[in-house]
Formats: sequence, structure tokens, C-alpha cells
Amino acid sequence: MKFELQYTDPKSNARAGLITTDHGQIETPIFMPVGTLGTVKGVHLHELKNDIKAQIILGNTYHLYLRPGLDIIEGAGGLHKFNGFDRPMLTDSGGFQVFSLSGIRKLREEGVEFRSHIDGSKHLFTPERVMDIERTIGADIMMAFDECAPGTSDYNYAKKSMELTHRWLDRCCARFNETEPKYGYNQSLFPIVQGCVYPDLRRQSAEYIASKNADGNAIGGLAVGEPTEKMYEMIEVVNEILPKDKPRYLMGVGTPVNILEGIERGVDMFDCVMPTRNGRNGMLFTKDGIMNMRNKKWENDYSPIEADGASYVDTMYSRAYLRHLFHAQELLAMQIASIHNLAFYLWLVGEARKHIIAGDFSTWKPAMVKRLSTRL
Ligand code: GUN
Repeated sequence: MKFELQYTDPKSNARAGLITTDHGQIETPIFMPVGTLGTVKGVHLHELKNDIKAQIILGNTYHLYLRPGLDIIEGAGGLHKFNGFDRPMLTDSGGFQVFSLSGIRKLREEGVEFRSHIDGSKHLFTPERVMDIERTIGADIMMAFDECAPGTSDYNYAKKSMELTHRWLDRCCARFNETEPKYGYNQSLFPIVQGCVYPDLRRQSAEYIASKNADGNAIGGLAVGEPTEKMYEMIEVVNEILPKDKPRYLMGVGTPVNILEGIERGVDMFDCVMPTRNGRNGMLFTKDGIMNMRNKKWENDYSPIEADGASYVDTMYSRAYLRHLFHAQELLAMQIASIHNLAFYLWLVGEARKHIIAGDFSTWKPAMVKRLSTRL
């Protein structure tokens, strides 16, 4: 994998870059739609590629390992062959999902023992095992196995957890370096900075992560219950240390405003379930703010969903019709909302990139943040 830093904003830490993988290029800053089970929920590949223009999507090690299981994915020749998405993919390591989803967990030096949220069966994830699983899934970017401590953790817990994540990282790197990709294209390993809301821990973690000289680096443990301002402060602390010539990925973030604030602070990659999950509940993100499509307000509003929206669904369907579909619990409602929101997120990061390149990001961004913060 290669990263080329193309433009840097003179007035902030925003950057535009280009990642090159064996499955194609990614223009940064970028948003990665979440495809937990190898599918972006409710969205066909055709729309994902041609309408939303996803350049990279994310899959989850925890989910894919439990279902359909590694034999099935390996039998297909890896996840790209299995789901038909021939562009870059990234897999999260399970370091977050094991803690948020699975039943009874035992956290030990060796790894995490957990029970499947599907059938209660017992499993053990160790750094070595997770590297082997991510090799088998075959994403272009594999995330290191970490512990994502809650945003409300006290200093002592945050420190212990960060140190464990660092020891696990050593083991991830060792296993990664002694194994080969299975399907003939390269894979990169991204380590993850932890340290909760404590600046000295974040600095220590960023230095440790940077010392690994990986192809890219991630910031984890944010948007997990801490105040938003703390999150922004931690991004600043960490990005002062993470190398400038490698992509920086802020995990699990966030709202459109969070993404612009992240870009301004030097983040290049984002992922979040918000556009799809909130979309399925009737929440639409637009340039002029948030719309709740279940609201009575839209009952007889026959205007387009978003007249100058980024997706064909925006002018194909009216607000009144989409509200009707949500009220009738029609599947199409969720599909339209997911396509709209993802196309909007990809449009937003694409616009940010254009303005970084044009040199006026610092005037465009605050005006956009103001527009996005409205409730329609
Ligand atoms: N997704 C959101 N936050 C995190 C994190 O801290 N670690 C991992 N592995 N995934 C995440």
C-alpha cells in the first residue's frame, strides 16, 4: 500500500491524499461505508459502486468469523470474491465488537474469551488468531487487535488497557510479519492508538504506534461516551505525533460535523454505522441539516427528498412518499434512506477534498458546519 500526500491546507491540519492498494485507489479524506457482514445493509453493489461511489468499505472480523465462518470465505477465495466488491476493503479486528456485542467475556493477557451473540458458543480471540482470521478474510487493510476501553474509564484502567493494547500490538506485528497474504494481493496492518481521554496516555500511545512504522495508523477509543470536545482534543494530541506521510483513520466516527472537525485536525479516513443505522430509523442527513422522515411535517410535502442531492433517489422520490414508506414499514424506505445518507457522506468528504485542494477549506468548513447543524 502506498500513501501520497497531495495537498495540505495552509490554515489547518486538513490534507488531501491518495492511497493506492492492489484493489485500486482511495482519494482522501474518505468515508468508508460499514459492511459488517460483508454487505452494506440494504444497498446493492451496483448502487454502492456507481451511485454512492464507495471507494472502500469496511467488514467486521468478529461477525464474519461467526457467520458465515472462515471456511466459506476461504472457499470463495476471500471476501472480495465472496461479496463481489472488487475495490479496497478494510476489516476491523473485533477489538471493539467483542466488547460491545458478545456475551460473558474474560479478558486475559492471552486474549479475550467470549460467547457468540448468535448461539452462545465459546470462542477465544488472541492477537495471533485475529491476524490469521484477517488474513483469511483477505481485506486490503487489517486492523490490529486492541481493547477499546469505555470513554468513562478512570486513569488507572485506561493506562492498563492501553499497555495491554501495546503488548497485543507487538504480537499482532510478529504474526503479521511471519504470515503471507492468501490470495495473491498485499495486505497492510494498521495499529490503533488508545488511551481514553487522558492526553499523556494518548501521547504515549501515539508514540508507540508511530514507532511500528506501519502503512497507516488508527485512532480508536473515541466516540465511546466521552464529551465531543474531549474527542476533538484527543485527535489534536494524537495527530501531532502520528506521522504525516501515513494515512490516519479515526475509528467509528461520526456525524457529518464530527467528520469535518476530524478532517480539519488531520484525519484522512472515517467509518460509522450512523448513515445506515440512523437511515433505517428514518433519519436523513442533508446539506441543510437533519430530517426525521417519520415526522408529520413531511406528510404532504411532495417536493424531492433533496432537490440538489448527491444520489438519484433524492429526486426520484418525494418526502411525502418516503414518509409514507416509513410509516408502512416498507423495506424500500430503509433502502432509500441508506442510499441517500451514504451518497451524502461520500459527497461531503469529496467536497472537503475539493476545498482542501482549492485552498479554501478553512472558509468552507465553518459555513458547512453551520448548515449541517440545523434540524429541518
Ligand atoms: N471501532 C470504533 N472504535 C474502535 C476501537 O477503539 N477499536 C477497534 N478495533 N474498533 C473500533
